[in-house]
Amino acid sequence: MNFKETLSEKITQAEAVIRQYLPKEEGFAKELAQAMNYSMLAGGKRLRPIFMQETYKLFGGEGRVIEPFMAAMEMIHTHSLIHDDLPALDNDEYRRGKKTTHVVYGEAMGILSGDALLNYAYETAFLAFDIEGANAARIGRALQIIGDKTGIYGMLGGQSVDVKNEGMPMDWDLLEYIYGNKTSALIECAMMTGAVLGGASEEEIFLIESVGYRVGLAFQIQDDILDITGDAKELGKPLHSDEKNHKTTYVSLFGLEAAKEKVEELTGEAVETLKDIEGNNEFLYELIESLTTRRK
Ligand code: IPE
Ligand code: IPE
Ligand code: MG
Ligand code: MG
Ligand code: MG
Repeated sequence: MNFKETLSEKITQAEAVIRQYLPKEEGFAKELAQAMNYSMLAGGKRLRPIFMQETYKLFGGEGRVIEPFMAAMEMIHTHSLIHDDLPALDNDEYRRGKKTTHVVYGEAMGILSGDALLNYAYETAFLAFDIEGANAARIGRALQIIGDKTGIYGMLGGQSVDVKNEGMPMDWDLLEYIYGNKTSALIECAMMTGAVLGGASEEEIFLIESVGYRVGLAFQIQDDILDITGDAKELGKPLHSDEKNHKTTYVSLFGLEAAKEKVEELTGEAVETLKDIEGNNEFLYELIESLTTRRK
C-alpha cells in the first residue's frame, strides 16, 4: 500500500473508533446530541487522533487504551471548530463541507454543543481506566496534559488573544504565541498523550512536545496560505476568512513565499527531531511531511 492508501485506511479506522464513543441521540436532550454529532460526523482529516495513535506506536504502544483518548481528542478539536465559527468569533458559515453547527441548529445550540463536546471529551477519556486500570498513572498523566493544552495555557489562551487582536498591528512574537497555542497546543497534546500512554520517558515527552509545536506552527501557516490560495470546495470552509476578520497572519506579515519556506523549515526540524528518537515510524514522518503540500 502506498502512503495515500495507508492514510485513508487509518482515517477509516480512526472514524470507527470515534463513532463508538459518540453520545446517543435520545431523551429530552436529543437535539444537543444531534448538534454534537453533526460536526463530529461531518468529516475532517482526523489528524489529531492519527498523530496520537502513531506516536503511541512509535513508543511501542499496541493496546486499546489509546482509543477513548483518540475520540476525546477529536471532540476537543471539534468543539474548538464549532466555537471558532460562531458569530462572536470568526463568523463562518461552512465547515467540513457543510453549514456550520450554529447555522443549522442556532447559536444557542452552537454554544452548548461545543461546551458539551468539550465536557464529553473528558467523560470519554476517563473510560481509559476501565480498559487499562493497571496503567492508571500513565492515564492520569495523559489527562493532565489534555487539560493543560486545551485551556488558558493552550488552545483557549491562543484563541482569546487571536480574537482580541483582530485589526491590530502584530509582530511575530505575539503571532507565534497565538499559533503556538490556538493550533500547536492540541497537536502537542495529541502527540504527547500518545507518547505518555506508549511509555515514553520524560525526556522523550519533552522532545515530542517540541515536535508538536513545530508541526502546529507549520499547520497554521499552511492554513493561512490556503485561506488565500485554496479551493473552498476542497477545503470545506470559506476562503478569505482572515481578511474578512482583519487578522494578522504569517502571510500578511511576511508574504506567501516566505510563508511556504517557513512551513518547509518547521516541518524539516520536526521530522529531524522525531527521527532522533529511539523507535521508528515511517508513516508518521511521511504524514508530517505530506502536510506541507496539503490542499485541505
Ligand atoms: C482546522 O483544523 C483548524 C486549524 C487549527 C487550522 P483541521 O484543518 O485539522 O480541520 P479538520 O479537522 O480537518 O476539519
Ligand atoms: C483555528 O484558527 C484555530 C482553532 C480553531 C482552535 P482558524 O480560525 O484559522 O481556523 P479555520 O481556518 O477557521 O479552520
Ligand atoms: Mg479563528
Ligand atoms: Mg476560523
Ligand atoms: Mg484559518
